[in-house]
Amino acid sequence: MTKKKLFAILLVIVVAAFVVYCIFAHCGAKKSGFAELDAWAEDVVDRKLSQLGYPVNQDIQLKEFYEWYLANDLEIVGLNNAGDPYSKESGLLSSHQFEREVLDYFAPIYGFDKDEVWGMVSQSGTDGNNHGIYFGANYLRNKTGKEPVMYVSDEAHYSNARLADLQNLELRFVKSDDMGRMIPEELEKVLDPTRPCLIVYAMGSTFKGAIDDQKALNAVLAKHPDMPVFRHVDAALFGGYLPFTKHKDMVNRKVLHFESIAISGHKFFGMDEPAGLFLTTRDVYDHQNKYDIAYLNEDMKMINCSRSAVNVLKFWWLMKHVGFDKWSEQANEMLEMTDYLKAEMDKIHWPNWKNDMSNTIFFKRPSPEVVKKYSLACNKDDRFGGDLSHIVVMQHVTKEKVNELIQDLQKK
Ligand SMILES: Cc1ncc(COP(=O)(O)O)c(C=O)c1O
Repeated sequence: MTKKKLFAILLVIVVAAFVVYCIFAHCGAKKSGFAELDAWAEDVVDRKLSQLGYPVNQDIQLKEFYEWYLANDLEIVGLNNAGDPYSKESGLLSSHQFEREVLDYFAPIYGFDKDEVWGMVSQSGTDGNNHGIYFGANYLRNKTGKEPVMYVSDEAHYSNARLADLQNLELRFVKSDDMGRMIPEELEKVLDPTRPCLIVYAMGSTFKGAIDDQKALNAVLAKHPDMPVFRHVDAALFGGYLPFTKHKDMVNRKVLHFESIAISGHKFFGMDEPAGLFLTTRDVYDHQNKYDIAYLNEDMKMINCSRSAVNVLKFWWLMKHVGFDKWSEQANEMLEMTDYLKAEMDKIHWPNWKNDMSNTIFFKRPSPEVVKKYSLACNKDDRFGGDLSHIVVMQHVTKEKVNELIQDLQKK
């Protein structure tokens, strides 16, 4: 046998062994030993790209994070971010230093100066709203000695009403217009200027993607200069992408003068599990009720004790690995894809509606098969002919997927 032949045979053996190893290593990593669990895993991975009805970015870029995490044995360390990320460390193993970096990064994006901001990486948009409402109500009480009234539009996310209920606040719903925006004249009608006003603005209502017109609503509030006001912005979804578009002023405190803002981390930013950002001012934080807890980091003004340290690390990782330029690209592509979807629906005369600056299109509800295939979220509104569905165009929604949906709509 010639040397060349021998070399070729050896090469084939090595490559074959490598392929077999890869197949087994991959299969081994995939199988849990629980058929039900493995089947579920396969199913969710298969279906993720057809998820059009809910505002979850399925283009998640955390693979290397998990590799790094495992390579450094962090899966055997109990981490916990209990406590104020800015105050002195408790004895817990936390990732507060990275939390502060995340907050420093995002503060100016939402118009907060670094020396005035207080914030945290929250558990979710709802957790951020909970803090906005709780901090807002206490701020107003502690400054005025009076009980505030909370106002929110009837199209805002249900968590706001739920949280008012939980916090035993008097809640007044403000009527919204057909497209879901709070009506300034209706705010005027229900406003009690003798009591402090805690108002929650919807920065992207959940079903119709409506943006409350903060300028017009602030003008209504300004007619009552003696009425103390706290404005919390529920920007769970839109607060993720708007800062990276030409509409960035819509979530800028310097322009719109809100006191706090909540954003979800698992919507636009691509966290793979619930997380969020909550930002307010140091002045608001300093006017909260004090609970000195010596065994944590002393002054616990936040609602939750334990908070995820791992989520903070993931957020930090995304900030470093995706970051401003890619988020800008993604945000603008999402809005372009939303326009494309709308134009394609218009072409086939499928009744559909979209608010300005929104990545959400609501439309006549298609057949149950289509609703199921694309996991569409459904609602009802007689002003738009009754049964409706919506699509939230996130990063994973491609032209091919839109075209497939349009074909499915045309089938019947
Ligand atoms: C406007 C709005 N606010 C709040 C939430 C709740 O956010 P999370 O799911 O992060 O708790 C949502 C969720 O869809 C939302 O659309």
